[in-house]
Amino acid sequence: MYLNVVWRKVNIQSTEAATEIGEHIAVEPLLAVENLSKSFGTQLLWRDVSFTLNKGESLSVCGISGSGKSTLLLAIGGLEMIQSGTVTFDGRPVIGGRQAFIEGIGYVFQHYHLIEELTVRENLLLPFSIRFGGRQMPDIWDEVLDLLGLRELLDRLPTTLSGGEQQRAALARAVLMKPKLLLADEPTGSLDEATGARVMELLLQVCRRFRMSLILVTHSQTFAARTDRRMLLKDGFLCEQGYKREVDG
Ligand SMILES: Nc1ncnc2c1ncn2[C@@H]1O[C@H](COP(=O)(O)OP(=O)(O)OP(=O)(O)O)[C@@H](O)[C@H]1O
Ligand SMILES: [Mg+2]
Repeated sequence: MYLNVVWRKVNIQSTEAATEIGEHIAVEPLLAVENLSKSFGTQLLWRDVSFTLNKGESLSVCGISGSGKSTLLLAIGGLEMIQSGTVTFDGRPVIGGRQAFIEGIGYVFQHYHLIEELTVRENLLLPFSIRFGGRQMPDIWDEVLDLLGLRELLDRLPTTLSGGEQQRAALARAVLMKPKLLLADEPTGSLDEATGARVMELLLQVCRRFRMSLILVTHSQTFAARTDRRMLLKDGFLCEQGYKREVDG
């Protein structure tokens, strides 16, 4: 599967290359992951994971089941304890999930995690009201509803929606918070190919529109190829797809 690409171990670095989301924007560091290591008990999952991500940049993480991709996303978002290393987001250390949420890290998961008892509208507004309180509406409400085609679904319960509709709602819920960084864990993993492709298109579109950085965990090489940078978690190390010229030279 990875035969035709060259991977190199990731060091802390910035990138000037930008193909999809990061086009036409200045390079500004947003996230610095430095020497993260994670074990469950005596079992080492990954070690010395280091990379930086710029504002508006997108990055994909591939790897076989059990390689630790979801755990890595949780660690970046302050939701998983790590044994060593640091995560710095927008100039501040990430010390917990709530702080990460407040400072602008959003999540989209494979299984949507919408609250079944709440309508789509209530689901969409819940994090926003937790964060900002009261009855204030997100200023990008109309734009997000139109982009993701959710207007007709606002009064429905999640259980009455298709998988693609639920994922569009879950994406909107995250985007309405205007996160600076979106962590997406196999966001199309529960969808058929065509619906998955449509949701992925929308995901990339909203990231571009609202200049959000993206870390996308995916098993799809096609989707991974759409991100600015591609990484592979393998044998406990995170490697970045390198450039042919580095190997030649
Ligand atoms: N809380 C936990 N306690 C013990 N082991 C755990 C815990 N969470 C995850 N693991 C183990 O860590 C390994 C990595 O899990 P993780 O969910 O990060 O993998 P993944 O790469 O996301 O896999 P998949 O592609 O199947 O989603 C697995 O072997 C899993 O059983
Ligand atoms: Mg996973």
